[in-house]
Amino acid sequence: MNQRRRVAVLISGRGSNMAALLEAAADPAYPAEVSLVLSNRGDAAGLEHARARGVPTALVESRPFGRDRAAFERAVEAELHGHGVDLVALAGFMRVLTEAFCTRWQDRLINIHPSLLPSFPGVDTHARALAAGVTLHGCTVHLVRPGVDDGPILGQAAVPVLPDDTEASLAARVLAEEHRLYPAALGWLAAGLVRVSGKVARIAAPCATGALVNPSPNPSPNPLPMGAALPRTAAGS
Ligand code: GRF
Repeated sequence: MNQRRRVAVLISGRGSNMAALLEAAADPAYPAEVSLVLSNRGDAAGLEHARARGVPTALVESRPFGRDRAAFERAVEAELHGHGVDLVALAGFMRVLTEAFCTRWQDRLINIHPSLLPSFPGVDTHARALAAGVTLHGCTVHLVRPGVDDGPILGQAAVPVLPDDTEASLAARVLAEEHRLYPAALGWLAAGLVRVSGKVARIAAPCATGALVNPSPNPSPNPLPMGAALPRTAAGS
């Protein structure tokens, strides 16, 4: 059997995507193993979950480094190298990485973002999607390039936005898809199925063939409000 790629998952908080990656990697057939969970915050709940699963963890607090991002990243990289890490998966890691770090880990560094990029990079994606009135929203896994939430896209999952959605209900619908998409995308990268050409990544994996359309264009029994005039057909009847 081919050697599994050694992955570090970088977190800052809850760690539910990290947990989804651990779950996937529990299958010996999965092409990656989680060799390290690293947090920049001691209060990240995900650290405890990783410890409970017997996964090596590291805490590199970012706060003491202040604005010296390069020094912080050197400390992070000491952990990555110490654990023989091949790939780095950002999972709710709330630090913007320097260009130098992104270049050193180019095409070995991936991120999950809760929007259909390039729409809504940055924070508060669900509130911004609701405010913009989009009817499809979702999440993206991408290779990381310098710049916020930028880089070749490995995969996206779309969900409908429903009329009575709140930020919380929409976030929950997206998060469920994040937990499916991230393990799949990391698996493609770890298995060597990703080819990058400029800004575009191609994946040697089956593509979806159907479309997700919202609102549904299927005829509904009563699509018009009560009392509304019926539209004339082309035949004028
Ligand atoms: C997720 O929505 C992820 O897309 C974003 O930060 C959130 C982290 O959640 N980058 P969790 O810590 O994985 O639960």
